[in-house]
Amino acid sequence: MSNANHILRPGKRSIKSPETPIAYVADSTTSLKTSSENPSAARHNQILNCFAAVPRGAEELAGAELAALGIGDAKPGKGGVAFRTDLAGLYRTNLWLRTASRVLVQLAQFPCSSPAELYAGVHEIAWQELITPEMTLAVDCSLRDSTLTHSGFVALKTKDAIVDRIRESCGRRPNVDTTAPDVRINVHLHKNIGTISLDSSGDSLDRRGYRLERNEAPLRETLAAAVIALTGWDGSTPLADPMCGSGTIPVEAALMAAHIPPGLHRVFGFQRWLDFDNSLWKSICAEAEEGIRQVPVGLITGYDLDNRALLLAGRNTTKAGLEGQIHFFHAALQDFQPESDTGVIILNPPYGKRLGEEDDLRELYCQIGDVMKKRCRGWTGYVLTGNLELAKYIGLKASRRYVLFNGAIECRLLKYDLY
Ligand SMILES: C[S@@+](CC[C@H](N)C(=O)[O-])C[C@H]1O[C@@H](n2cnc3c(N)ncnc32)[C@H](O)[C@@H]1O
Repeated sequence: MSNANHILRPGKRSIKSPETPIAYVADSTTSLKTSSENPSAARHNQILNCFAAVPRGAEELAGAELAALGIGDAKPGKGGVAFRTDLAGLYRTNLWLRTASRVLVQLAQFPCSSPAELYAGVHEIAWQELITPEMTLAVDCSLRDSTLTHSGFVALKTKDAIVDRIRESCGRRPNVDTTAPDVRINVHLHKNIGTISLDSSGDSLDRRGYRLERNEAPLRETLAAAVIALTGWDGSTPLADPMCGSGTIPVEAALMAAHIPPGLHRVFGFQRWLDFDNSLWKSICAEAEEGIRQVPVGLITGYDLDNRALLLAGRNTTKAGLEGQIHFFHAALQDFQPESDTGVIILNPPYGKRLGEEDDLRELYCQIGDVMKKRCRGWTGYVLTGNLELAKYIGLKASRRYVLFNGAIECRLLKYDLY
């Protein structure tokens, strides 16, 4: 996947790395506090080992986004991208990354093949410098190819080690809040190596803050952004979504075209951290807001048969700060007629999860092929579907196929060059 797209780029400024990096992971113990004579400067310069968790299939795209943010040494791997940055970079990546689902900051890494090793490794971290007894916490766990196989147990043991360490230091312990904690901690076991991280995002990054209600099959915002990036759309030609539902694809495209950071309307986990630097955060948001521009009239359009879905699309557009900048029409795909000679069409048709639905959808997939072939000459068509059997009914030869995941559903993004 090399066609990462220019429109994902946030701006000109890059994130500078300090000349003398301060390791965030020191032995297995670390702290967000520093003992420097100028604590504020040292904190800003501290280099953080980060990991952007990314839906499978979009890792290279997230790597390209990080490069566009000035982070040169990003290393895409399975399920995410490892990178290093400073505090400003951490804030900026949360604000700007369109395809990542969260940004983790690594605290410690240690061999971990037993409950005792897990407890000791977690207990060694100076948690009392990160969490006070008045704060709440939650622990998320993921594990792969390790001796410890029960994620609930690993999360519980991790939580025990954290609260014990804080109680030993402060005399009281913090409570757990799984829904809206002050600090979210991530424990990851892979091949008996434990990695403990702070989740700087809090709610996952696909929660942009513009979606008010969910329709039946909304596309995840991060996946919509990945799809648009894969099309290579750069904002210079029209983009149409003839089956737009609640408008996720048009809204994500418009955010890109308007240079609006996807996280502008939400709060992040790091905003509740003890070391949160509000003035740094405000300056990063202000810099982003300066770059916002209007989406040209007619650039992005959405269509759907369902009036209720269109109502949601309109509301989401307004909430995203894009009122009047995307045009939605009540229309059937069968009547779709693009208004210009060239552009990008993205379709996310239903793919029939329940028995019997597929029969009805075959006709619709045939119509998608017909409409693209007969009415969209000069455009490039893309169909995102989780049903490869139905995709055959499009009846056109795809020039490229990308594998992406919509949650657990393996999908294909199929590209059609329409001559
Ligand atoms: C999988 S949903 C799209 C979800 C959308 N991407 C979102 O994020 O909300 C498919 C959409 O296709 C619409 N649809 C189904 N048949 C249609 C047709 N013949 N013409 C236009 N829209 C149609 C449905 O109303 C539904 O909103």
